[in-house]
This record gives sequence, structure tokens and C-alpha cells, in this order.
Amino acid sequence: MSERKGFSRSSIVKEFLRAKRRGEKIVLLTAYDAITASICQEVGVDALLVGDSVANTYLGMEDTLRVTLDEIEIFTKAVRRGAPQLPIIADMPLMTYETSVKDALLNAHRLVLAGADAVKLEGLWVDQIRALVRAGIPVMGHLGLNPQRGLISGYRRFGRKEEEARKLLEEAKKMEDLGVFSLILEMVNEDTAQRIADELSIPVIGIGSGKPLDGQVRVITDILGLSPWIPSFAERMLDGRHLFKEAISKFIDEIKGLNF
Ligand code: KIV
Repeated sequence: MSERKGFSRSSIVKEFLRAKRRGEKIVLLTAYDAITASICQEVGVDALLVGDSVANTYLGMEDTLRVTLDEIEIFTKAVRRGAPQLPIIADMPLMTYETSVKDALLNAHRLVLAGADAVKLEGLWVDQIRALVRAGIPVMGHLGLNPQRGLISGYRRFGRKEEEARKLLEEAKKMEDLGVFSLILEMVNEDTAQRIADELSIPVIGIGSGKPLDGQVRVITDILGLSPWIPSFAERMLDGRHLFKEAISKFIDEIKGLNF
């Protein structure tokens, strides 16, 4: 089993930048509960993301549009309890930052109070990102497919055409200038994603974007094979759903067949 240690919580920004400088790949996984978070800490995941994907995974919703800040706060607290030493990034749900700089600041601070070391928001929200960084809250960016905007943009691959690729690169550079410490690219054409990673000095972390880039993020229930549907780019490292079923069925059989 791995003897790795994840990144240090006290210097989340430095750790991410150092990994990029040294060419070390960053492993970021989503986590929503204390048990999973503790396992991730034990095996040396670099950092955890309390993603709004919890809406799809644990809350059984169809998309990420209806998960609330109260809910993300609860999951962040649980993950912090399970992984006290790991850097945790918490997703800002839809409409907790778009409405104003003040909302972004106050809502991000609630996530910090819940145990997050950084927040992630989808898209280029110039004033909000600038204000958060100025206030001392590290921000992770997220470009390409932004599921919170999926009903408008469509759930598709981004940056295939040169014009869209150039726009993505410009937005990514702007994000870096604004001070985000890392950028997630979701469902971006692999050459475009690599071009962005090559041009930025902050780590660019991919999901569904082909190349390894500076690191990868995955939804934990996908790699554990727990999700009923797993996207084609996700590596299923375990047939978790099957194993869960087998264990629970075994327990049912044992109890039903038992003579006390
Ligand atoms: O919410 C989430 O899990 C995410 C990842 C897919 C990057 O934003």
C-alpha cells in the first residue's frame, strides 16, 4: 500500500505551486463523508474536494443545481473531521457567489468556518475571485464544462474549435492573473487542455480532458465503482457496487438463516 503523504494543510497554495514546479502530478479526489476522507488521508491523496457533485452522488439529484450551501457546509465539516491533516477545497454552490462580491465573501467564509482551506467556483467571476483572494481565501478555478451552467452550455466537450480554445486560454490566463492557485479543466479538448497547462504557472488539473496535465481530479464514487453510471473517462479501480451488494446480501443470508 502507498506510503505517500498528502499535501500539508497549512500551505495549500505553496504545495500546489511546488508540485507544478517539480513536475509532480497532483491527485485530487472528491469526498463527502468522514470515513472516505480518513481513508484518503491514510493512503496519501494530495487534497480533497467537497464537490457539488455530492448532489448527484450522495443526494440522488439529477444535476448540481439544487444543492445548497447548508448542505455543502455539513459535508465539509464531515470531511474535515475525517481528514484533519489534508487540504480541503469546498465547492461554492450555484447562486452563492454569482449574485455579488459580498455574497461570495460571506458564503466562502462559511465554508472556511466549516473546515475548508480553499473554495472552488465555476467560471470566470472576475470581481468575486479578486475579492476572495484579497480577503485571504484561496480560490480554485473551474473552466470547460461548468455543470452549474450545463443547461445553457450543454454537457459537451469544450475547446475543440480554435476560437473556443483561444477563449478558454484567455480565461485561464485571466484566472491566473487574478490569483487562483489552481485550475480545473473539465471536458476540455486534450490539446487545448495541454496548451493551457503549458502556458500557466499554476497547476492545471484535468477531468475528462485527456492528457495527464499537472494532475487529475475524480469523483470518488466513480473510481470506487459505486455510482450506477460512470463516465467513460473515469478509471473504475474497484467494482464497489458489486462488492457492496455481495457483502450486504451475505449479511441478509446470515441473519435470515440464523437460528438464535
Ligand atoms: O463537484 C465536483 O465533483 C467537481 C469535479 C467534477 C471537478 O467539480
